Amino acid sequence: MVFRVVSLALCAIVLVQAHSDDRDMHKAAYQNPQRKAVGGQPEAPEFWVRSAQEDLDNKLKSEPKIAEAKNVIMFLGDGWGVPSIIAARILKGQAVDNVNFGEEAQLHIDSFPHTGMSKTFCVDAQTADSACSATAYLGGVKANTGTIGVTSNVLRNNCTAQLDTANHVSSIVAWAQAEGKSTGVVTTSRITDASPTACFANIANRDWESDVRLPEDAKDCMDIASQLILMDPGKNINVIMGGGRNRFLPFDYTDSEGLKGEREDGKNLVDMWKLSKKDMNATYEYVEKVEELLNFDASKTDYLLGLFAKDELAYFHDQAENLDPTLTDMTVKAIEILSKNPKGFFLFVEGGRIDHGHHANQALRAIWEAVEFDRAIEKGDEMTNDDDTLLVVTADHSHAFSFAGYNARGDNITHIAGKGEDELPYTALNYANGPGHVALVDGMRHNITNDPIDDITYRQVPLVPKDSETHGGEDVMIFAKGPHSHLFTGVHQQSYIAHAMAYASCVGSGLTYCKDGQ
Ligand SMILES: *[C@@H]1O[C@H](CO)[C@@H](O)[C@H](O)[C@H]1NC(C)=O
Ligand SMILES: *[C@@H]1O[C@H](CO)[C@@H](O)[C@H](O)[C@H]1NC(C)=O
Ligand SMILES: *[C@@H]1O[C@H](CO)[C@@H](O)[C@H](O)[C@H]1NC(C)=O
Ligand SMILES: *[C@@H]1O[C@H](CO)[C@@H](O)[C@H](O)[C@H]1NC(C)=O
Ligand SMILES: [Zn+2]
Repeated sequence: MVFRVVSLALCAIVLVQAHSDDRDMHKAAYQNPQRKAVGGQPEAPEFWVRSAQEDLDNKLKSEPKIAEAKNVIMFLGDGWGVPSIIAARILKGQAVDNVNFGEEAQLHIDSFPHTGMSKTFCVDAQTADSACSATAYLGGVKANTGTIGVTSNVLRNNCTAQLDTANHVSSIVAWAQAEGKSTGVVTTSRITDASPTACFANIANRDWESDVRLPEDAKDCMDIASQLILMDPGKNINVIMGGGRNRFLPFDYTDSEGLKGEREDGKNLVDMWKLSKKDMNATYEYVEKVEELLNFDASKTDYLLGLFAKDELAYFHDQAENLDPTLTDMTVKAIEILSKNPKGFFLFVEGGRIDHGHHANQALRAIWEAVEFDRAIEKGDEMTNDDDTLLVVTADHSHAFSFAGYNARGDNITHIAGKGEDELPYTALNYANGPGHVALVDGMRHNITNDPIDDITYRQVPLVPKDSETHGGEDVMIFAKGPHSHLFTGVHQQSYIAHAMAYASCVGSGLTYCKDGQ
């Protein structure tokens, strides 16, 4: 709470600077976690009775909100499985909120009235990748691993099958546009990465992000960046923000960071995007830096393209030095632009790098990404009205990540949880596999006693060596709030999520509240 009080005081003094100060203060607090009250008194028994009674009373009073969801915001935590949710809650408690121990902290999503489970398997795999899973939760149809916006008739890499429009799966972005709603897609990863791509493209391989990434036998298929800028529904999306800039620019073009594009087909997709908005007489902004994002006037802008990095945006802790916006910065701007449409909007917001931290076995980094993701959700909730805006938070898959052992109350999540029968210590955060593996020495596990376990770049030592840690196959959570959030209780396929969001917001060709509701 300290940083909030301080930044409030600052606001009073220098109003104009308020936004960016708040951002810097927030980062400072995140980078120097100072726990005020570690090891305070545990709660008395009466506390548990009182808080459970309050919780129960609130639940008894709560009723499902039966109304049209004018707006829908889907928040997707890439790879945000249950152990990562709990670790994020404790880290937030210890390093941001400064609560007594940490475990008693609340993520913003803990306040959502309805939760359920999502079964994330794909047509050809028990454990999903982001591509097939996104096709399901945004388009309502499960697909094959590595494919996006196409049915399971399309096997990965089959361009011929992709070209057959009968195999295409459209997304809730297209359905929302058909009803005159505004749409937006925001990610900390590349905008051409698998999850955001399912909002706008039909592609037989998630790797086909630009023309130079298409193999010889797929040159007839249009790459992801081109589909975003030139095709329906991508070209109509009002707000597009993320990384992956070089996928949009020619190889001989140098951008504002002095970096080259990668396209060899001569297309400058950024210029083509600007020209198309000019032809529509629309107001638009193209931005590459955080100051540009924070400073333009959203009330006078209908279209925004923000490409903040060549590849992914920097991890949360490195964003200030890289001049990249936070996910919260982008979410705020997106809502400011989209909420001008009286017919409402659909916005997809991805915390894309929780997944990347985990793939690298850097648990603390992944969990900080998750804490920032929750902050973006809180801000999005604050800026919208529960009576007309449905918020849905979920993940596309989990990770080979566990939070185990018998840490004491209030321990750092990175803490050594105990010793194995081999007398060697182990951390509470653990991976089944990944690049942090250290070979056995004389048949013994690596001794982590002197490892820098609190370091943000530390790799928890996994069991099985692998270049990249794998996803996990267990179900993930769904949290929902707003009109028809009760539809997200129970255990569902991830493909159900698209249908339920469409029902609540009266878009798409299936059941809708406006057409079929009582
Ligand atoms: C690719 O898809 C086409 C059209 O569906 C099909 O005829 C062909 O056999 C497929 N190729 C492979 C290698 O699966
Ligand atoms: C844009 O404005 C110009 C000049 O006023 C007009 O000729 C043109 O038809 C407009 N285009 C669209 C798509 O509205
Ligand atoms: C907890 O972690 C922080 C860094 O995240 C570190 O500065 C601190 O020393 C750790 N505290 C304990 C008790 O290990
Ligand atoms: C692990 O390393 C620590 C610190 O060097 C040492 O005290 C301890 O004995 C080691 N444990 C084993 C089982 O070798
Ligand atoms: Zn992944």
